[in-house]
Amino acid sequence: MKHLQVDLKNALSFVNQNDFNQYRDFAKEQNEKVTNKTGKGNDFLGWAELPDNISQEHLQDINETAKFLREKSEVIVVIGIGGSYLGAKAVIEALSGQFDHLKINKENPHILFAGQNLSEDYHFELLDYLKDKNYSVIVISKSGTTTEPAIAFRLFRKDLENRFGKEEASKRIVAITDVTKGALRNLSDQENYKSFIIDDDIGGRYSVLTPVGLLPIACAGFDIIELIKGAKEMMQIAETDFDKNPVFQYASIRHLLYTKNKTTEILANYDPRLNFIAEWWKQLYGESEGKENKGIFPASVSFTTDLHSLGQYVQEGLRNIFETVISVEKTKFNLTIPDDEDNFDKLNYLAGKPIDFVNKMAELGTTLAHIDGDVPNVKITLPEISEFYIGELIYFFEKACAISGYLLDVNPFDQPGVEAYKKNMFALLEKPGFEEETKTIKKRID
Ligand code: PA5
Repeated sequence: MKHLQVDLKNALSFVNQNDFNQYRDFAKEQNEKVTNKTGKGNDFLGWAELPDNISQEHLQDINETAKFLREKSEVIVVIGIGGSYLGAKAVIEALSGQFDHLKINKENPHILFAGQNLSEDYHFELLDYLKDKNYSVIVISKSGTTTEPAIAFRLFRKDLENRFGKEEASKRIVAITDVTKGALRNLSDQENYKSFIIDDDIGGRYSVLTPVGLLPIACAGFDIIELIKGAKEMMQIAETDFDKNPVFQYASIRHLLYTKNKTTEILANYDPRLNFIAEWWKQLYGESEGKENKGIFPASVSFTTDLHSLGQYVQEGLRNIFETVISVEKTKFNLTIPDDEDNFDKLNYLAGKPIDFVNKMAELGTTLAHIDGDVPNVKITLPEISEFYIGELIYFFEKACAISGYLLDVNPFDQPGVEAYKKNMFALLEKPGFEEETKTIKKRID
């Protein structure tokens, strides 16, 4: 059976082989910190063994809940932000047909998201769209106190209660939150919502393989058992020797490139279905490594689209970039370029060729051009986009992120910087308890 592969040949040519060889020990040492729970943030390592620890009963409970919501709903609104949003959104977008949301009589409910921003217009338009739809809500917040999803939940809870009555609304709401703490836990207990727990030892950005990601993904009609199988497979691969271990290799090369001043990593895809995988990855790596004035800046592009926008910068801008390409071997469908008698567009030399053949040549040509432009290239190959391989990809990135964070000597599992904007926002909103901060910030802006 094929697995996710990493190819470093177009990155190794930019570094000294002896320097890279040192990472054989370094990567192993950092991995041991994860296994033995001896590194920074070691109380947040629950994700590491999750694919092994997740029980069949738990998966069944998630699948049954998804079935219940699917039968009730044309639309399921998933409320959450950051780690309580991006994983589900990324996997659903990767696996869904790209025009499914436009199909009438769709057999799967449409999964829409709320509470991932504070846009009044977004939430108005979503409520307006839902006014004649049969819908349910999954509300996700580990802390149960995050402002964005709390505001959205208040809106959608009230709307459901007004439309269906309190009792029916409580059946249409599923909460995913902490086992004891937070406003959402209290409300959920009080209103008797079906709820799932986010374990204490799993941080938001590492939670996609918990109910946080699994319930919305199952609601969208995807096979969460296969997703976990893929993650489990990668969990084993991630323990193999350096030469066979894509996790060690990826974590090592990105750290070595960082020490050579390649401080921006661009995650590139050649399939727009992976755009939100990049958004999820940006949070995972940005929040895990960007601290103590350190860390690779995670950026993303979707090629060939962005070759006509950011391509110029990647080729010739500031030379602090390396790129990691997610390359998908096999397309889901086949479409060839038709022959044309008149050949006005001079494309007959491609007639009969699959579009993906052109895409792959664009990928190869771009890689070679970027290498010539001093952009090291790491290639991650996925045999195809399926639940299994997305499961492999998720665990691959999670484990490599932990090892990368330890190589950088930061705690990859905290996010102290996220509090700064919240403190200012609460001071400006005059939240009770923030009186002193309100006074200080008002002086600053007057
Ligand atoms: O990774 C993280 O911890 C954050 O992105 C959180 O997921 C995000 O802030 C949402 O938090 P919560 O689930 O507590 O509402």
